[in-house]
Amino acid sequence: MSGSDKKGFHYQKTDFVVRSSWADGEWSPLELHGDDTLHIPLAATALHYGQSAFEGLKAFRQPNCSVSVFRPLENAKRLRTSCERICMAQVDDQMFLEAIDLAVKNNWEHIPPAEDGSALYIRPFIFGSGPTIGVRPSDNYEFVIMVIPVGSYYDPKSQGATAYIAENYDRAAPKGMGHVKAAGNYAAGLLPTKLAKSNGFDMVLYLDAKTRQNVEEFGTSNFIALTEDGKYITPDSGTILPSITNDSLIQICKDKGITVERRAISVKEISSLKEIGACGTAVGITPLNEIYRGEELAWKSKVPVAESQLMELLKDLQGIQRGQSTDPHGWRHNISAP
Ligand SMILES: Cc1ncc(COP(=O)(O)O)c(C=O)c1O
Repeated sequence: MSGSDKKGFHYQKTDFVVRSSWADGEWSPLELHGDDTLHIPLAATALHYGQSAFEGLKAFRQPNCSVSVFRPLENAKRLRTSCERICMAQVDDQMFLEAIDLAVKNNWEHIPPAEDGSALYIRPFIFGSGPTIGVRPSDNYEFVIMVIPVGSYYDPKSQGATAYIAENYDRAAPKGMGHVKAAGNYAAGLLPTKLAKSNGFDMVLYLDAKTRQNVEEFGTSNFIALTEDGKYITPDSGTILPSITNDSLIQICKDKGITVERRAISVKEISSLKEIGACGTAVGITPLNEIYRGEELAWKSKVPVAESQLMELLKDLQGIQRGQSTDPHGWRHNISAP
């Protein structure tokens, strides 16, 4: 099935995965495998102690028939930060890029046309694969890259998405792992997300675990907002994931002369915000319509999605990603057809 036939954000097998194994202090040469399963020891540290981290980035078809991956070196760097935090072997920039190029070139027909938020989602991950029954880092690791054609992460709704503030659950502890993309962070979010969805909400918005006064981020994405006086604001916190999308949007705002503030955003302040969005590789910018705290409506959008300034920023970002505008900051990593 070609990528263009598939919308939404669901797993599907593509032609090849790229793999390398770490043993005796080094990575084996990158290999292509047609099989999308792995045979690993029952005592692998990933299974027992959560030694596992991942990344997410996208490849976009370009008007000239090449494909461009968006800012892959930022993902390489963030993956190393994650690996360092949970004591795993690390992959350097060169090996990361080589693996991305191999994965994209060998799954070329799965890359969807660049429309409606479609792209080839690239999921690199590293996990402890050695058999270790005491709590300590593994001696063996697997580095894998799989790719999947995707569309929108959240159901595209004309009026925007809804979020529920997590009162009874935290995503990350003050000196914990919220700033890295460790698999366990996502396990912590499964139950609050399930509860929010069963109550009809699209996503969960977390507060800071220490004071519960400030907004942190959504389960899948960063919190961004536009104020009534036209500023772009986003939380400054050591316990949220440093989003590459958010970083790119901040640069785009600066290029357009929009004032940017990275600062604490009190949950009390949100009622006054003009627009709120969730941003990330998977979600793009998903505009919010309503945020609830308990039974109470904590925020309601003041702008219809069709007139949203956040959607204008998304168009600017997509223009760069899809090769429809210039790339002033060198964000596109081009891969030519195999
Ligand atoms: C918790 C969380 N926050 C933010 C993001 C957005 O990060 P990025 O823009 O680098 O995809 C993601 C997605 O990776 C995420 O899982």
